[in-house]
Amino acid sequence: MERPLAIGSPESTRSFGDVVELMRIQAKTPPGNDPCIGSCYECLVSLIDTDEEIGDFFARIYQERSSLTPAHAVNLTFRSIQHIQLNLKSDRSYLDFETSEQWRPLLVELMAPDNRKLLEELLLIKDTITTVYQRYAGPKAIISSYWNGDPVNVADFGCGANVGLPGIELNVPFEAITDETPDQLVLSENRKPLNIQVGLAIDKYNPEDPDVKMWSIACSHYPKELRELKGDNELASRFKGSRNTAFLQADLLSQQAPHMIPKNEFDAVILSTVLYQRTPTERETIITEAYKAIKSTGIIIIQDFARKDPVNSQALLFNGAWGGGEFGYRTFILRKYPNADLLEALRWSDGRCRTVKPGEDFNVLQQER
Ligand SMILES: C[S@@+](CC[C@H](N)C(=O)[O-])C[C@H]1O[C@@H](n2cnc3c(N)ncnc32)[C@H](O)[C@@H]1O
Repeated sequence: MERPLAIGSPESTRSFGDVVELMRIQAKTPPGNDPCIGSCYECLVSLIDTDEEIGDFFARIYQERSSLTPAHAVNLTFRSIQHIQLNLKSDRSYLDFETSEQWRPLLVELMAPDNRKLLEELLLIKDTITTVYQRYAGPKAIISSYWNGDPVNVADFGCGANVGLPGIELNVPFEAITDETPDQLVLSENRKPLNIQVGLAIDKYNPEDPDVKMWSIACSHYPKELRELKGDNELASRFKGSRNTAFLQADLLSQQAPHMIPKNEFDAVILSTVLYQRTPTERETIITEAYKAIKSTGIIIIQDFARKDPVNSQALLFNGAWGGGEFGYRTFILRKYPNADLLEALRWSDGRCRTVKPGEDFNVLQQER
């Protein structure tokens, strides 16, 4: 079935300047307001501006990996540096850095001609697999308000560490949420358990692989969180014991994916923070796959750093607003029935999902109750 909807802005000319611009923004408003990340970007921008060799190094990688979006490139750069320091060098000293000057010797060494191969490899092949259970509070509230306790089949495309569906199935509570929606719908729906009959979590990386686990830790935590984290195992054990959720290792963009993913099977497909990493053409492929996977009464939940295109309310524009106070992390619903509208359900303070406001089409959730 053809999906009667265009998602994604047209492919535009790629410019490394967009990456540097986004780094500049993130230096001022870093994810989670973490000064360690902000000062790292500040130092990177200054090195790129002043050291031709370092500037050329990053620009060449960005040109070589043509599928990298600016937001993904910026995010991937910090995560790769964190992975090298934390996991490969077992050096946690950077966790306390708060200024560009503190970062400079470390970054200069990392990018010295003899050492830069490691960073280059990560930037050329890795995807960030940042996984945050809290992000599933929005999708859970939406599914709960649509199906109201009835059994549901749910797929999670790009599940990362695969905590979303197991956590929802086991009714693992979310952290506190400041809910500014009418009747505090998000909080009240999240109080109810969701009856997941079949859960299918899909990712191109297997979260049980030890190397993937290490990369996932570097991707999923801010330095300030890592300073406080006593053991990631303790965190993971909360999500053990799910019976109804299976994991499928598959690249959603591969030719095999359409043969591996059941069709007409799911009430909801969740796409949480996956599409921002992909080019507009790849987003189309993934959405088309999700569209085939849902039943005629099903919905796709897209949650990302995105907003509706002001000139085409059926299209999404993706941005790199990781920090910031503009509620740029949003939850959208795409459905087949009664019409193929794209609806903006919720707006979150940021990708850590601790404060939520109604989106412009929030009332669709009240109608479903
Ligand atoms: C940023 S993580 C988000 C994880 C989780 N959904 C969340 O919101 O916390 C994005 C995930 O999408 C996965 N992903 C990206 N492109 C993919 C593809 N083509 N096929 C399968 N998984 C993909 C990545 O491997 C990664 O684990």
